[in-house]
Amino acid sequence: MEILGVDIGGSGIKGAIVDTETGELKTERIRIPTPQPATPQAVAETLKQLVDQLNYKGPIGCGFPARVIGGVVLTAANIDESWIDVEVEKLFSKVTGQEVYVANDADVAGLAELSFGAVKDYRGPVLFLTVGTGIGSALFINGQMYPNTELGHIKMKGDSAEKYCADSAREREGLTHEEWAKRFNKYLKKVTFLLQPDFVVMGGGISKKFEKYQEYLTVNTKVIPARTLNLAGIIGAAMYCKTKLK
Ligand code: BGC
Repeated sequence: MEILGVDIGGSGIKGAIVDTETGELKTERIRIPTPQPATPQAVAETLKQLVDQLNYKGPIGCGFPARVIGGVVLTAANIDESWIDVEVEKLFSKVTGQEVYVANDADVAGLAELSFGAVKDYRGPVLFLTVGTGIGSALFINGQMYPNTELGHIKMKGDSAEKYCADSAREREGLTHEEWAKRFNKYLKKVTFLLQPDFVVMGGGISKKFEKYQEYLTVNTKVIPARTLNLAGIIGAAMYCKTKLK
């Protein structure tokens, strides 16, 4: 089955049609800059533009950078405040004229890795982290997801850990990969101590540069890069949509 998967991020809205049997992209990946301010209506219209560019009709899966339960946005750490309590599935379905399913961006990206990536079909405990503007988390065991965790928000230096060691902190503070990785390693120590997964899978933009910082990650859990790299969000969104259609 081919489904449009869309990854809604702070700087770009990216999508492609995905073959949900193989995880392959069936079209080019389209990226449209996220409108600023990224209000619900503006983002919905950008999504419609993406759907139109691909000339797509059918169900759509979206990864969204917030806690999303029952089609409603509940948090707004790195997105416009006006998103809180928005019925995002209804809004996107209405504006695009298609059936749209929305879930947390890290949860869906983790699903892609479990379906086709670094932990394909693995049944043990896995923590997936997506590191970009924020830090998103997804937890899996026995192939099942424990959804809507927010482990990027554990406290470090008096604030959310993502403020200290997301990729945006590296850019904002001009850190070298080594400096950033040493911070991130402290974060990993905390989360792996609390959860002790068999694997930590690193996704997001930073997963493409794994060899630049791998040596500084010294936790006693295997830390591996996502295999679907920065396409995880798109592939996983389509996979999530498929689970909702069954
Ligand atoms: C949000 C999460 C999201 C993560 C990655 C965090 O700031 O709270 O819901 O998964 O950023 O986008």
